[in-house]
Amino acid sequence: MNSSKAQKADLEWRDGVPVSVRFDDPYFSVNNGLAEARHVFLGGNGLPERFCEGFHIAELGFGSGLNLLAAWRAWEVARMTSPLRFTSFEAYPMDTDEMAKALAVWPELAEYAERLLAGGMQMRADTLELDVIIGDAREALPEWGGKADAWFLDGFSPAKNPELWSPEIMHAVGAHTAPSGTFATYTAAGHVRRALKDAGFNVTRPKGHGHKRHMSAGVLV
Ligand SMILES: C[S@@+](CC[C@H](N)C(=O)[O-])C[C@H]1O[C@@H](n2cnc3c(N)ncnc32)[C@H](O)[C@@H]1O
Repeated sequence: MNSSKAQKADLEWRDGVPVSVRFDDPYFSVNNGLAEARHVFLGGNGLPERFCEGFHIAELGFGSGLNLLAAWRAWEVARMTSPLRFTSFEAYPMDTDEMAKALAVWPELAEYAERLLAGGMQMRADTLELDVIIGDAREALPEWGGKADAWFLDGFSPAKNPELWSPEIMHAVGAHTAPSGTFATYTAAGHVRRALKDAGFNVTRPKGHGHKRHMSAGVLV
């Protein structure tokens, strides 16, 4: 998955969780990242209930691929037979061995991790059409030709990774959302919620995962 125009992820490991040295933030929740991915990104987007043929998920921040694997597994468990379309934007890709190490803690994802690592970042399979767009989302997203039915907004925390939560990026998310499409994110930061509202979403504040009081979700109106 390495690309000449990409800078690599710069990782350290804390209790088996990859932490970005560049952003000083973990890639996923120390308190069960898979459960959080399901609660926030699937549940927050009304998935798997909304799955239908041709469904297209887009994501800011591919990281280890955990959210992708949670969605792909849910897609197959829902007995969808056409490919799930999944587009993710990533500026600092992990190496394959780093992804393998990060994902190894979830036995129920093992089969999916193996298929992803063998298939690569542009993989095509019976049930998955994956495109990881390598580069800074600030440039890549406005140029993207697609529209997603559901967005996973998963940058590092807004305080540490503000460039992935700016009004400009949120506006681009709105502009690249299909009619009645949705977004979900773990953050309930006020400035992010306002930017998403300005971008055309009806924003709600569901219960967050675990000890977190709130997260954010919304529907394009
Ligand atoms: C919290 S992690 C994502 C975790 C990931 N969704 C997973 O399932 O493992 C945030 C990601 O955003 C990426 N990122 C940060 N700034 C970015 C930018 N300007 N453009 C694209 N990706 C960016 C980071 O490299 C990191 O992989």
